Amino acid sequence: MNFEFTTPNRIIFGRGHFAEIGNIAQNFGKKALLVTGRQALKTSGKIEMLKEILAKNGIEFSHFIVSAEPEIKTVELAATKAREENCDLVIGIGGGSVLDLAKAVAGLLTNEGELLDYLEVIGRGQLLRKPAASFIAVPTTAGTGSEVTNNAVIKDPASQRKASFRSPHLLPRVALIDPELTYSLPPAITAQTGLDGLIHLIEAYTSKRSQPLTDLLCRDGISRIARSLSRAYKNGNDQEAREDMALASLEGGLALSNSGLGAVHGFAAVLGGSYPIPHGLACASLLPYVLEANVQALRAERATNPIFHRYEEIAEWLLGKPLKTGDETIEAGLRFIRELTNLFQIPLLAHFGVKPNDLPEIARKAAQASSMKANPITFFQEELVSILQKALG
Ligand SMILES: [Fe+2]
Repeated sequence: MNFEFTTPNRIIFGRGHFAEIGNIAQNFGKKALLVTGRQALKTSGKIEMLKEILAKNGIEFSHFIVSAEPEIKTVELAATKAREENCDLVIGIGGGSVLDLAKAVAGLLTNEGELLDYLEVIGRGQLLRKPAASFIAVPTTAGTGSEVTNNAVIKDPASQRKASFRSPHLLPRVALIDPELTYSLPPAITAQTGLDGLIHLIEAYTSKRSQPLTDLLCRDGISRIARSLSRAYKNGNDQEAREDMALASLEGGLALSNSGLGAVHGFAAVLGGSYPIPHGLACASLLPYVLEANVQALRAERATNPIFHRYEEIAEWLLGKPLKTGDETIEAGLRFIRELTNLFQIPLLAHFGVKPNDLPEIARKAAQASSMKANPITFFQEELVSILQKALG
């Protein structure tokens, strides 16, 4: 058995812990690049509180607002601002886009060169030589897990793809997870990000690179999302459900960072780069069809491929119990997923302007995505196109 497991230095979890951000930050620097989204902190009434806390702890800051999924030029812009303002610390408070941008800036601040030197697939894929600037990650959504991952996903409009800036140096110094920050998330964002979190756990558990430590996280996280995602969707102030979702998101982040993902994320890397489709929706619209294709292909190899049995376990955790036979359990698990995507009214890909003629090119690019390589089955081009056709509608 061989594996590696990396995490941020410190993970702090619990309701109300956001108030500790000043105390934590003062251990790492004097001037922070504070990266946030446009809305989340305002809606939760925490932005003024944050400014007061930072001032009280003697932390100066320069504010960078992220309003869309990070592109190469936005990351470079933020890194230039951080250098010009002599920032020695990066604090990211927001959803996946905010945390990914902040993480990439922390990496660029202490290293030579430009972002394209380090990006996988579309860039030069160089190794990051020096530790990143100290980075404190505070998620305000539950699902992306970016607060504990070693990669930042960046969009490149030129090649119409998303690719990762990845290095163990990019792991945050502190991940501060306060479920209270997610109470004000609207139902649609709760659903999209929550399903992304569920997919991280499912894909990491069935990845070719799955390992014992992440297996434990996946089991716990999938059960939590199964019992709490629709509750959090229906009532944002359900404290227990929000706590379950925040913890499952963290578990999914640790799992994907150490064990990789699968075909859903392989497709999403291309779709998110080429169409105006939020990451969670791209993943959610593909999930039922990728699961069916994986299960169907693995069923033929069930005697020799132990991953097939893992889909039975996932279905059992989703349902809370096994049914009479393994096949019945898997079928009911797939129904559970379809019912969730129906409840959340996840649109089909056609809704985002994807056309039937685009599918072969999407499939060709998706085959090269890093996540696709960890999928338990290596699909042929026509199989990839067939999955896309079903998700297109
Ligand atoms: Fe994801």
